[in-house]
Amino acid sequence: MSEKDQTRRLRSRDWFDNVERMDMTALYLERFMNYGITPEELRSGKPIIGIAQSGSDLSPCNRIHLELAKRTRDGIRDAGGIPIEFPVHPIFENCRRPTAALDRNLLYLGLVELLNGYPIDGVVLTTGCDKTTPSQVMAASTVDIPAIVLSGGPMLDGWHEGELVGSGTVIWRSRRKLAAGEIDEDEFLRRATSSAPSAGHCNSMGTASTMNAVAEALGLSLTGCAAIPAPYRERGQVAYRTGQRIVEMVREDLKPSDILTREAFLNAIATVSILGGSSNAQPHIQAMAAHAGVNLPPSIWQEHGYDLPLLVNMQPAGEYLGERFHRAGGVPAAMWELLNKGELHGDCVTCTGSTMAENLEGRESRDREMIRPFDDPLQEKAGFLVLSGNLFDFGILKTSVISDEFRARYLSRPGKEGVFEARAVVFDGSDDYHHRINDPSLGIDEDTILVVRGAGVIGWPGSAEVVNMQPPDALIRAGTAWLPTLGDGRQSGTSDSPSILNVSPESAAGGGLSWLRTGDIIRVDLNAGTCNALVEADEIARRQSEEAPPIPENNTPWEELFREKTGQLGQGGVMDFALKYRGTARKPPRH
Ligand code: FES
Ligand code: MG
Repeated sequence: MSEKDQTRRLRSRDWFDNVERMDMTALYLERFMNYGITPEELRSGKPIIGIAQSGSDLSPCNRIHLELAKRTRDGIRDAGGIPIEFPVHPIFENCRRPTAALDRNLLYLGLVELLNGYPIDGVVLTTGCDKTTPSQVMAASTVDIPAIVLSGGPMLDGWHEGELVGSGTVIWRSRRKLAAGEIDEDEFLRRATSSAPSAGHCNSMGTASTMNAVAEALGLSLTGCAAIPAPYRERGQVAYRTGQRIVEMVREDLKPSDILTREAFLNAIATVSILGGSSNAQPHIQAMAAHAGVNLPPSIWQEHGYDLPLLVNMQPAGEYLGERFHRAGGVPAAMWELLNKGELHGDCVTCTGSTMAENLEGRESRDREMIRPFDDPLQEKAGFLVLSGNLFDFGILKTSVISDEFRARYLSRPGKEGVFEARAVVFDGSDDYHHRINDPSLGIDEDTILVVRGAGVIGWPGSAEVVNMQPPDALIRAGTAWLPTLGDGRQSGTSDSPSILNVSPESAAGGGLSWLRTGDIIRVDLNAGTCNALVEADEIARRQSEEAPPIPENNTPWEELFREKTGQLGQGGVMDFALKYRGTARKPPRH
């Protein structure tokens, strides 16, 4: 430790060791006594380490953290810190209505206030379920105190009758089997629930596993942390080491602003591509970058990630689930492939105190069925494509999940590779879709593109995972499992649908989907990166003067505020006004 480090006064001293305001210090100290902590501890000059507790009965994906926090506390104590655990706003992706997307920015706001307003010198961010990672990272950037991510880890692999069943993915796949009449509703439920055999978050490469991997790729968690299944012994061990490490980070004054550089975000995007990670990584990485003061244009997803191959053989893009991924070496083994090929910024500073390249040393996988070598991938050019045109300025397509069958039908027509035209059938929200999808009068056939609008930030509100619409039952029975889909909402990271997603601006913000009509022809050109409705300009203008599609009323105060303050998905769905607050901890709040 340098002399400077030893003499640096921790921000918690402003609460507990303020000679000018002894009256305030007394007030700050006294109530902590009532659960047995002593004034000597709080006044000892040891770092006060927050544990941002995201687990609760309402956050089952993160509930393991209630247990893990005990080991985290041990680590903090053994390294000479004092743990203070507190709850953050719960987020449960699958259960929160109208959508958990409302909660990312809410947790963010709440955590900023906690970290800024209390005597906390460093924080352990406990992550798991989808938005619990980006929200907490965003808050840590705003406050800019030393912060480390502790993932809760995925559930054990799900099995049903000898078949691996992955979170979410089994629902989308079984939904098609149900529609085709291959299984009944009881079997549907049995398959779905078999995918959740233990504590932990989604065990497929859905948004949760993706975002925890992203945290590790950014350099925010200990090497190998993200993929350890929740019930494994290594999970408790990494919780302990994370607790130890955050105390050292406070002493070193190693902050999010030191770690979250442009290069770190490029590493994260590249990692998402080789993992076959969730399309939700796009708004979340955009948002974390924006809060870190890093300007990433949305086109970066294609420029920096599309050309990379799919290396990780995990559902929904591949076959396996989290346990095998962990045993194969997890995120470091996948990132090792990038580093070895010169596709990673190895000199990025990480929370370990070493560079990313140093962290990845010797991490090459030995399970080549699970983590493929860079030169023998599951799929070439498997990242994200970014599209624009007269319907929207930004939309994203996750190519790693596009099936061979779909490619053959839509993207490989001789002389027209990567190009297709389809007749739009437009739905106003997912209720409209569910009511009408099996209506034969819509004339849905193989040359149809299903479009949903009213599913974005303002329209839903929040932005919903509804774009992965399946074809009508009759078409599925006839052998068409996928139609192209397009929408201003998102889709689950566990979905295997070929969808153009996160379309911005959304219909409710006056985007092009608002004037689209059923029967219009949409032309998608993946080579040119365009998606256009073949509608004349004067006809578009005429339609724009007509009544806009309906959007539901606000149901709660936060919905109103959220709609007012939150930007479009293409820019990360951030609250723009919040971006100007960075490093708030450098100026402690008034007494
Ligand atoms: Fe919480 Fe997937 S629903 S992790
Ligand atoms: Mg999800």
